[in-house]
Amino acid sequence: MKPASIAIFASGTGTNARRILEYFKDSPNISVSAVYVNKANAGVIDIAADYQVPAIIFSKESFYSPGSIVKQLLERGITHIVLAGFLWLLPKDLIAAYEGRIINIHPALLPKFGGKGMYGKHVHEAVKLAGETETGITIHLVNEHYDDGKYLVQQQVSLTGKETPEEIAMKVQELEHTYFPAVIENWINNCY
Ligand code: GRF
Repeated sequence: MKPASIAIFASGTGTNARRILEYFKDSPNISVSAVYVNKANAGVIDIAADYQVPAIIFSKESFYSPGSIVKQLLERGITHIVLAGFLWLLPKDLIAAYEGRIINIHPALLPKFGGKGMYGKHVHEAVKLAGETETGITIHLVNEHYDDGKYLVQQQVSLTGKETPEEIAMKVQELEHTYFPAVIENWINNCY
């Protein structure tokens, strides 16, 4: 297959980014070529450095300036985009240029607990409040709406009802780390 070159977009700690970088570090045909970050102090910057992958920090102005981000990605030869804890809505021209080639992970079983404002601890608090007996992850393609593209994979974990939101978060994170890299690989290899 043709070599694939991933750009990870992340805003935060980057535990998923680390798993992805580790998973693909020796891959013959899939490489992570850049980590795009919208926060100058995000933990994911150090993680990228651990893997000798450039971290590119960008502002809201440059991100939403028409054509700018697409041009950069194309110049770098990026073929696929992985959102791993990235909170801004993507500009339309980016979605159009990479249609079907942008993937996201959401820490709940969509369509429940998705949409604007549903990120991080807000998701797990809402799951707790709703008394759900299970939660999980949704890995999906990205379109112009929050958490709305085609679902590729969902994985569930059951809840006793006694977990705190923090404990729910830990269960979900375990699923993320277990499944996300391999799902990315299968998606790039056209298994979905
Ligand atoms: C994950 O929970 C992911 O599902 C969500 O953002 C979080 C990122 O966590 N989209 P991390 O920065 O990878 O630790």
